[in-house]
Amino acid sequence: ILNKRIAVLPGDGIGPEVCHEAIRVLEAVAERFGHKFEFEKYLMGACAIDATGNPLPDETLDACLEADAILLGAIGDPKYDNDPSAKVRPEQGLLRLRKSLGLFANIRPVTAYEVLLEHSPLKNDRIAGADMLIFRELTGGVYFGEKGRTADSAYDNCTYSREEIERIAQLAFQAAATRRKKLTLVDKANVLETSRLWREVVQGIAKGYPEVAVDYLFVDNAAMQLILNPKQFDVILTENMFGDILSDEASVIAGSLGLLPSASVGKLVSLFEPIHGSYPQAKGKGIANPIAAILSAAMMLEHFGLQEEADLVKEAVQYALEKKVLTPELNSHSPYTTEQVGTFISYCVLDGAETGPY
Ligand code: IPM
Ligand code: MN
Repeated sequence: ILNKRIAVLPGDGIGPEVCHEAIRVLEAVAERFGHKFEFEKYLMGACAIDATGNPLPDETLDACLEADAILLGAIGDPKYDNDPSAKVRPEQGLLRLRKSLGLFANIRPVTAYEVLLEHSPLKNDRIAGADMLIFRELTGGVYFGEKGRTADSAYDNCTYSREEIERIAQLAFQAAATRRKKLTLVDKANVLETSRLWREVVQGIAKGYPEVAVDYLFVDNAAMQLILNPKQFDVILTENMFGDILSDEASVIAGSLGLLPSASVGKLVSLFEPIHGSYPQAKGKGIANPIAAILSAAMMLEHFGLQEEADLVKEAVQYALEKKVLTPELNSHSPYTTEQVGTFISYCVLDGAETGPY
């Protein structure tokens, strides 16, 4: 029986709605297994700027550092996107949080769910059976390099150290060794010096994992291969920006961006968040898919060592997909609301799938 303190950063847009459902599912887990999870909410993102002027208030960072895990909804607001001169942005909060917590590895699983194949715009036979794990480096590269701006020019530097590459590559190889034993490094080593360092480091680490087959793809080709033949991928290892782009692309294989969870791990406390953004157009409408947030909570349970609990949440999600208890982007004919999907999954977790409420 575990006692855990979870810092919740609901954020902006649909973030609070999807977090709410993830919390209900975690509460169902706690009730069924006798764990005690405490949730405390803190501001980050545009809501924090509105309230304090700071996208990551000290209070939030301190609470995150003291928590056993962090659950994040989503951040971002279009009023900042459309103002290129804005000095303070919601995204700065998230980036500073990742950096401050040393969250160097962002792990994004992508699965083609059998029952959702028909919803994918991709041909079913191409995607059926696809199952991959993307390891995205999260605290380096062009996101965190020196930036500069004059009236008519701007730059963002991309820098990686050997150590930054080594630590995430080790995690990716360890994961590959427990899966289908294939690792693909995605880079642009024909052009970028940083990519050549990535290859050098990964080639060195590969020697310690003779059972793992390694291949190397340039990012442009990888973007095409992901759609052409996603089944070829097991573990994908890549730098920050390429991982950001490729994981959104990979969500088309799952059927919806609203399905993909992630775990960010590093030196201190770990953070769990859906890969989708704040989807401001959907805020308050009850149409946001809570499954990405709920599966992020399942990754949190795994991180706590609660495998049985995590599996139960994943089974409940699977059951919701099978029963077509889905938000409108996946079920336009008889859509369920964000809350109804959360209720269905919580019930399944609590009582077992067969006694679900619908
Ligand atoms: C993500 C998001 C963030 C990123 C944004 C909101 C800064 O797109 O988590 O993928 O680019 O890392
Ligand atoms: Mn992204």
